[in-house]
Amino acid sequence: MDAFVIHGGKRLRGRIRVNGSKNACLPLLAAALLTDEPVIIRDVPDLSDIENMVRLLVSLGCKIDTVEGKGTRAAHMQVTDPTRIEAHYDIVRTMRASICTLGPLLAKRGRARVSMPGGCNIGDRPVDLHLRGLKALGAKIHLDGGYIVAEAPGGRLKGSRVFLGGPFGSTVLGTDNVMCAAVLAEGTTVIESAACEPEVEDLANMLIAMGAKITGAGGPRITIEGVKKLKGVDYTTMADRIEAGTYIIAAAITNGDVVLDNCPTDALTAALDRLAEVGVDVESVPPPGKSDVAKDRLRDSVRVTAARRLEPIQVVTQPHPGFPTDLQAQIMALLCLADGNSIITEKIFPDRFMHVSELLRMGANITRTGTSAMISGVKHLEGAPVMASDLRASAGLVIAGLAAKGATTVNRVYHLDRGYEKMENTLQALGAQIERVNVAGA
Ligand code: EPZ
Repeated sequence: MDAFVIHGGKRLRGRIRVNGSKNACLPLLAAALLTDEPVIIRDVPDLSDIENMVRLLVSLGCKIDTVEGKGTRAAHMQVTDPTRIEAHYDIVRTMRASICTLGPLLAKRGRARVSMPGGCNIGDRPVDLHLRGLKALGAKIHLDGGYIVAEAPGGRLKGSRVFLGGPFGSTVLGTDNVMCAAVLAEGTTVIESAACEPEVEDLANMLIAMGAKITGAGGPRITIEGVKKLKGVDYTTMADRIEAGTYIIAAAITNGDVVLDNCPTDALTAALDRLAEVGVDVESVPPPGKSDVAKDRLRDSVRVTAARRLEPIQVVTQPHPGFPTDLQAQIMALLCLADGNSIITEKIFPDRFMHVSELLRMGANITRTGTSAMISGVKHLEGAPVMASDLRASAGLVIAGLAAKGATTVNRVYHLDRGYEKMENTLQALGAQIERVNVAGA
């Protein structure tokens, strides 16, 4: 199994481009099931989760060619066999986001059989809200041998009023599923308490370009007027706000000086607000070859620098536009070196603290109580062998390793490969001493 060996203490310097967003791209790919016409999706990141989604869509009768462009990749897709309706357990168990094929299958093919995704290292992760939303559109749903079996009576769903609020806020992929189901339904659907994440808005933008009638995406009420048919599209995935946030924090913890191009600043307001209070300066600069800063703040260029003394802060993870849970582990690593006590409260996935015990092995001082963790800053972190448990926890450990004294081995890097494109190459380009090694049995 692959591991990263990091010799910490190098200041990161240089310029990198933020890739297309994993969490935007997965539902965009699944939405290709909604049309018989060709679909091109650009800036598709090279990640194992994307590979798994491609595998799943091929098994659902979609022909997909991945074409390398100038530093980015495009997926050229077209449905060739619309009779397939089963998202098999073998693929779904490798990636929960497989659930976002459910809405498109039901809308276009009138039937779906999708393996029920299990929990994962960040929590239980139920799909009750997805199912409640689809039932409100008239879908008949039951469970059969671990599969969600869903059918649209008469082959077409009916528009309706759908409430998607749950105990931890709305649901991102649930909103995607209901929105995809509603675009081809008969009549109007109103989703109340819709997820406001920018990735939902990105999906809505692609659907609109395909001929869907959607207003309000990006806010808590989305209105969808069903249409009979969607056409093909050529669409570019939004930039990855979590990848951008991760490299911003990596630059900050090494007291570095890094420019990020294609940075979705507009989607990172809460994170940048917290980081500013820590003492991290993120300033817009002109994109390569330009003399003015970008007008499109979802494709910004930013320069990241940080004060030597990091201030302690409070962070509460919340649904967008609050601080994203997907950056919680990374900011915790940074706060391990702040000058005082910080508190992080996790309000989306109450058990998403697997990284705490590994950071403790590196000399951090963290006390967890329920859904909060108090981080008392230490003077330095010590390199140690640590175990990655999930994607973002692993990113937090890499960040800690970049600042730690001595060598850190982050085992089980396959978690990172799900969501960060060749992270070691990116960090090497910025001057980090990091290499991928194969560790037997790790
Ligand atoms: C998306 O997962 C992201 N995944 C996650 O990113 C991200 O952490 C999460 O949104 C929250 O922002 C993708 O976009 C592929 P949710 P999703 O449904 O949609 C509860 C990463 O690291 N809930 O918005 O599956 C749920 O348990 C990943 O890149 C219900 O109660 O998350 C959680 O507490 C990990 N019932 C909260 O809602 C439901 O039916 C938010 O989950 C669905 C969710």
